[in-house]
Amino acid sequence: MTKVAMIGFGGIAQSVHLPAHLKLEQEGRSKLVAVCDVDPTRFEKAMEINIGGSELKLSDDVKRYTDWQEMLDNEEVDMVDICVPTYLHAPIAKAVLARGIHVLSEKPMSLSYEESMSMCEAAKAADRKLMIGQCVRFAGPYNFLRDAVKNNTFGKIVTGVFRRMSGPPVWGWDNWFMDYERSHGCALDMHIHDLDFIRYMMGEPDAVSCETKDFYSGRDVAHSRLYYGDASLLVIGDWSLEGVEFCADFRVAFEKATVVYADGKLMVYPRGGEAYEAKVSDKDWYFAEIEFFLDMLQKGVENTVNQPESAALSVKLVDALCESADKGGEKITYSL
Ligand SMILES: NC(=O)c1ccc[n+]([C@@H]2O[C@H](COP(=O)([O-])OP(=O)(O)OC[C@H]3O[C@@H](n4cnc5c(N)ncnc54)[C@H](O)[C@@H]3O)[C@@H](O)[C@H]2O)c1
Repeated sequence: MTKVAMIGFGGIAQSVHLPAHLKLEQEGRSKLVAVCDVDPTRFEKAMEINIGGSELKLSDDVKRYTDWQEMLDNEEVDMVDICVPTYLHAPIAKAVLARGIHVLSEKPMSLSYEESMSMCEAAKAADRKLMIGQCVRFAGPYNFLRDAVKNNTFGKIVTGVFRRMSGPPVWGWDNWFMDYERSHGCALDMHIHDLDFIRYMMGEPDAVSCETKDFYSGRDVAHSRLYYGDASLLVIGDWSLEGVEFCADFRVAFEKATVVYADGKLMVYPRGGEAYEAKVSDKDWYFAEIEFFLDMLQKGVENTVNQPESAALSVKLVDALCESADKGGEKITYSL
């Protein structure tokens, strides 16, 4: 039984991580021992974020702390789940790893590639597991697309659009999302989901370009292009759309079919054939991610899905896109 503690008990922790930990606890896989948040009101009040609300069900036997160091001094845990604002991921993850505790930490990995790689080094030095919450790698509809590429089901990808859009995330503690220095805007925050998934599916692009726009803070809108040989993918991250409900979708044209994921439905439109709805796993992506991390800890499953070094490279890709944006959207060659 893996003993778990959570650091940061805000929007994402309450809405998706807590239910996943409680379900895994019911399955006898793990036990949520303690939670920590600098703001103790978080333990009592359910939050509402762009992907939905939470039903706060924190039982009395879960210890509450407002200082994570004190929590780890007092509690014996095998794994920490880090759900604090992005600028705190690296310092907290490295300190937790140094205590000999496995770490699952939310995306984006950190604010820079260098800082992200220092997290990988900390995990190696401590001989502990580190995984980043790139949850789209565990999403059924997105994996359908990846399998189609891998198996050449519909031929090669020709073009495509990936979108992730919402109103501004104003629920954050101390309004940290809207402070570019602490979040690096939508370009790093929401946008990284699609960038990371596309890299997982197709590897590194040959060239990139990007235009960003500042609305509330910095880079609240990012229109990126990833070039793979003759194919190009448009990736849109936008949290400037006041009042608009969160949506994430894709439309991808292969040589022999178009695949569309929108409004929770995955459709395939074969060239010259009948359209059909593709059936894929509907397992909650966040649950699947945390379950996989437990498989790594408990069953020795190798992390071939979501290595921290790869999550770090997604942060590096954002750096390249921002470089292009700073050059007025210039197409720049990309190499590692
Ligand atoms: N995977 C996803 O789909 C997804 C969705 C939303 C957010 N996120 C990521 O999750 C992270 C957290 O986002 P959120 O929406 O939950 O933000 P949030 O502001 O709602 O929650 C962060 C929590 O951390 C707490 N906190 C701040 N400093 C702390 C410290 N030193 N020690 C302990 N607690 C501290 C805050 O009080 C707050 O409750 C971010 O990196 C964000 O990008 C991921």
